[in-house]
Amino acid sequence: MERSDVHLPGTEDAAVGQLGPTGRVLPAFPEPQPLTGTGPARVIAMCNQKGGVGKTTTTINLGAALAEYGRKVLLVDFDPQGALSVGLGINANALDVTVYNLLVERGHDVRDVIRSTRVPRLDLIPANIDLSAAEVQLVGEVAREQVLSRILRPVMDDYDVVLIDCQPSLGLLTVNALTAAHGVIIPLETEYFAMRGVALLVETIEKVTDRLNPRLTIDGILPTMYDGRTLHSREVVESVVRHFGDRVFHTVISRTVKFPDATLAAEPITTYASAHQGAGAYRQLARELIARGGSP
Ligand SMILES: Nc1ncnc2c1ncn2[C@@H]1O[C@H](COP(=O)(O)OP(=O)(O)O)[C@@H](O)[C@H]1O
Ligand SMILES: [Mg+2]
Repeated sequence: MERSDVHLPGTEDAAVGQLGPTGRVLPAFPEPQPLTGTGPARVIAMCNQKGGVGKTTTTINLGAALAEYGRKVLLVDFDPQGALSVGLGINANALDVTVYNLLVERGHDVRDVIRSTRVPRLDLIPANIDLSAAEVQLVGEVAREQVLSRILRPVMDDYDVVLIDCQPSLGLLTVNALTAAHGVIIPLETEYFAMRGVALLVETIEKVTDRLNPRLTIDGILPTMYDGRTLHSREVVESVVRHFGDRVFHTVISRTVKFPDATLAAEPITTYASAHQGAGAYRQLARELIARGGSP
């Protein structure tokens, strides 16, 4: 029997010890141990130069799930569209200082720019359209790839995890995120052309690893917008696993309108629809990430 004839369950009905949605046996991801102290933070860049693949949704909801597990989490909005800020109910257009000012002006204290959110232990460095000018302004700077890393340094001991929501490009801002990061999570929309562009992304990650940040690793590839009822979705996930092997998370994120609904409500799904399977999927992703060593 062909692999694709086997019914692979979605995350919602996958059982530990049985075939999961990625066609591999689903391990148990235990309830994370509480931490005894805070920091130093592990920094993760959420990257894919394709838009609409679930970077921002994953940043918000993975961040919220890690915060539920007691981790202190800082989210960095690194996309001039500011969707991460909006998705957490922060009107960044009304703010005088955002990540943009930290990047291009001297004399700001990062702590003055950090906002708390309605989720305990979840903080945000917001962005707005101003950030679109930063790339051009940074080009002439010394160590222009290390600016974000320098900005984050003073607060590394205040957090356990920092998640950077990258813009859909491989330009200087994304290179800054990769230079500041310990790991990268690559959300991939479960679509036939999902892999298009990923080779270029991996090449960029390798260049940054060689030249700027030798500690950088790929923490995992995350299939998003998965529909377990369609052969199409299952085939795409299968090919992603064939290509990337164990770098693909066992957790997949199903397609559900609850995600855009939660965005409209400016809340993570973990609070907007706490019992929904989409919230459960991001909690499982948080446990899987912790189990893999991708987060304290
Ligand atoms: N699993 C999902 N199911 C359905 N819609 C989703 C899912 N994940 C994200 N979306 C929606 O798709 C759109 C793009 O997602 P987003 O996270 O903003 O992607 P990116 O940051 O990569 O551009 C948003 O409207 C978001 O609400
Ligand atoms: Mg986004």
